[in-house]
Formats: sequence, C-alpha cells, structure tokens
Amino acid sequence: MDLFRTIYSSRPFGFDAAMLNGILADARRLNARDGITGALICRADIYLQWLEGPEAKVRQALERITRDDRHLEVRVHVSEPVTERVFGNWAMLDDPAATWIWTQAEVADDAVERATPEEVTGFFLRLRDEMNARDAG
Ligand SMILES: Cc1cc2nc3c(=O)[nH]c(=O)nc-3n(C[C@H](O)[C@H](O)[C@H](O)COP(=O)(O)O)c2cc1C
Repeated sequence: MDLFRTIYSSRPFGFDAAMLNGILADARRLNARDGITGALICRADIYLQWLEGPEAKVRQALERITRDDRHLEVRVHVSEPVTERVFGNWAMLDDPAATWIWTQAEVADDAVERATPEEVTGFFLRLRDEMNARDAG
C-alpha cells in the first residue's frame, strides 16, 4: 500500500478540554473511516500531529485540518512515503504531557521555526517508546 506520513505543528486557538475532546472525537471517527492512524501531542501553546495512512487520505485530512479554525499557523515539518506504521494501534493517540518536546519558553522563542524534520520525528518516536514501555510495564 502507498503508506505516507505527515507531521505538522500548529498553534491552538481557544484551547480547552471541551475543544480538545471535540477534535479528538472528530479525528478518531474520520481516521477510522480513512485508514489513518497517528498521534496528537497537545498543549495550550502547541499541537504536533503525526498522521500516517494511504497517501491520498493523509493529504485530504491535512487539507481539512489546515482549514480548521480551532488552530492557526499550520506548518508541515515532514511529508514522506514510509514502509510501515509507527502508531498502527491508535486512530489518534493523544498525549497531553509531552515533557520531552520543547518547553513553553522554547516555543515562545521560535523553536518551531528552527525545528528540523529529525527533531520533530524524534519527539514522536520517543512517545511511541514511552507507550510501549507503559504497555510492557
Ligand atoms: C489539531 C487538530 C487535529 C485534527 N486531527 C484530525 C485528524 O487526525 N483527522 C481528521 O480527519 N480530522 C482531524 N481534525 C479535524 C479536521 O480539521 C476537520 O474538522 C475534519 O476533518 C472534518 O472536516 P470538514 O469540517 O471539512 O468536514 C483535526 C483538527 C484539529 C484542529
């Protein structure tokens, strides 16, 4: 299958628990329909989302997401074909703790603009490792 992965960041607009629950409900329902899996790192100052699945579906989801007024400044960091899924068990894993990504001070100091694809990818691989360790523990 033409498996594809995209990682973007954005700035939440009107972040609160109700909005986040709404976003996750939308994401999980539509991703189950579209064969997309992934993870959303969500904090009051930043979203970082990993989407993986059939290329056309991932591109369409990203188009819809980019138009969404619940966030601003959507910036794509990674867009590439892949051979396997990293978050295959999750229609959309959400991680609110995200202690290993940039601090709020770093985000405020334009860390997102300076981010490399490897750095952003690394955040999610770390999250995947944490999830696997939790399952094993
Ligand atoms: C941070 C964030 C993450 C989202 N993640 C997804 C997602 O993984 N999949 C998805 O289909 N929609 C996601 N959405 C919702 C889309 O923006 C959009 O509301 C939804 O796909 C329905 O599209 P429509 O309103 O054009 O019908 C997300 C929205 C936000 C703000």
